[in-house]
Amino acid sequence: MMTTQTVAGGARVTRRCTAVANQKGGVGKSATTINVGGALAEQGRQVLLIDLDPQGHLTDALGLQAAVGPATLPAALTGTWEGPGDDLVVEHSTTPAGGRLAAIPNSLEMFTAARTMDRMRAREHRLSRILASLGTEWDHVMIDCPPSLDILTDNALTAAESILIPVQAEDSSLKALRLLLAQSEDVDTNLRERPLLLHGLVVSLLRRPPSILARSVLQHLEALPDLPVLATIPLSVTVAEAWRSGRTVVDYAPDSEHAAAYRTLASILDKASVTA
Ligand SMILES: Nc1ncnc2c1ncn2[C@@H]1O[C@H](COP(=O)(O)OP(=O)(O)O)[C@@H](O)[C@H]1O
Ligand SMILES: [Mg+2]
Repeated sequence: MMTTQTVAGGARVTRRCTAVANQKGGVGKSATTINVGGALAEQGRQVLLIDLDPQGHLTDALGLQAAVGPATLPAALTGTWEGPGDDLVVEHSTTPAGGRLAAIPNSLEMFTAARTMDRMRAREHRLSRILASLGTEWDHVMIDCPPSLDILTDNALTAAESILIPVQAEDSSLKALRLLLAQSEDVDTNLRERPLLLHGLVVSLLRRPPSILARSVLQHLEALPDLPVLATIPLSVTVAEAWRSGRTVVDYAPDSEHAAAYRTLASILDKASVTA
């Protein structure tokens, strides 16, 4: 959901919400969410990351603890807790440019939340409601989706106004992408007022040098209409090390090519927020 508000002094503030989605696991969704979020914070933005995957990898990789009740994301999604979204927020870091990186972390009950939500009224709009209750300070909200096309992903695709799709250069990626785009069209038709903006693809975990197969898949991906390849992120210990130390790549290895790639993606999301 895009929220435009007038704050004290009359400045217009636009909050941009991006879902990072692909129903395949291990394609770089969480790494992309964290590191693009980190790059946005480095550029001075107020950034909130939402860990929508019951496995809680984003929470772990930020070095944060899973939330314990009563104020948790699954409690808010299933309506057993109804406070303001800000009560779910946990701080991660601030940056010299005045940026801030924070998260709504995972919680154990996320594993059963989807099943409970399946029985609820307006079940696809639960996350939108939480985002609507957040304060006005956030420039960017990024949602790290689970590796499935379930009610949680439907919630993300309903709440966000744009989508970023990490993929791997593998044969199965093309089929997975078709399924994801079909789901996104379905959400557009049935649940949204305006269609989702498809930013494009982030080819992650690319082995170097790429195999012949990977090169061929890359060519297919690059030829897809209306879905540009925005960046390729090579497989590297830099990303894994930053993840293990609870830091973002732009913080852990600011001069790396990976940091540069994540900054490029951050600028794309940020520009989109200005022109939307
Ligand atoms: N460019 C990279 N180089 C090396 N390891 C990476 C890279 N990107 C992600 N990883 C690691 O690969 C694993 C899968 O990535 P992840 O972002 O968790 O995928 P997903 O969220 O799609 O399941 C994680 O352990 C992560 O730290
Ligand atoms: Mg993940």
